[in-house]
Amino acid sequence: MEFDLLIMKRRSIRKFKDEKLSKEQIQELVNAGLLAPTSKNNKAVELIVVDDMDTINKLKDCRNMGTVGLQSASCAIVVIGDSEKSDVWVEDASISASYMQLRAEDLGLGSVWIQMRNRVSEIESSENEVRKVLNIPEKYGVLCILAIGYKDENIEPYKKDDVDESRVHFGKYDSYLCNENVKYR
Ligand SMILES: Cc1cc2nc3c(=O)[nH]c(=O)nc-3n(C[C@H](O)[C@H](O)[C@H](O)COP(=O)(O)O)c2cc1C
Repeated sequence: MEFDLLIMKRRSIRKFKDEKLSKEQIQELVNAGLLAPTSKNNKAVELIVVDDMDTINKLKDCRNMGTVGLQSASCAIVVIGDSEKSDVWVEDASISASYMQLRAEDLGLGSVWIQMRNRVSEIESSENEVRKVLNIPEKYGVLCILAIGYKDENIEPYKKDDVDESRVHFGKYDSYLCNENVKYR
């Protein structure tokens, strides 16, 4: 798919069909995540692929809200970062997750980012809960879980009109682009 179309088409999908992903699809997704750039090329990001429903359900309970996407996802990819390898593991892991979301769309799949860092379950931090469910050592931060699967809802792609140009400044903060001319507020 053309890259500009891919960017427009990717939307968060939270309802998935009851259909497993193939090993090849999962391989393509993790390839995208592992080839994303990392600070100082430290490669601090690691991925945990979960495709068994019981464990996906346990992951869902690691947060008190915002986890609808995990209810029907046939695959969850937990994105973690080694905080001893990189002081910017959050950025590294975010880029990795974004690459995988774009690759998912490219493969005709849907995905949604379920935030775990700085979030809580009914009991404690979501990060600790996920660490317990998946035996992740303490030094790893848990950024998010990508819920992935075949789309079972239709969310309209973005249109050119959705681009909010007021968030772009030219040269200085108080300038903006109007009919191809830079103007000042
Ligand atoms: C850092 C980050 C955290 C997010 N956390 C959640 C989340 O916990 N649960 C959820 O359903 N969606 C989550 N999302 C998805 C956003 O709600 C979604 O990207 C946003 O509403 C824009 O919609 P779109 O993805 O269709 O463009 C998150 C997205 C980002 C980038």
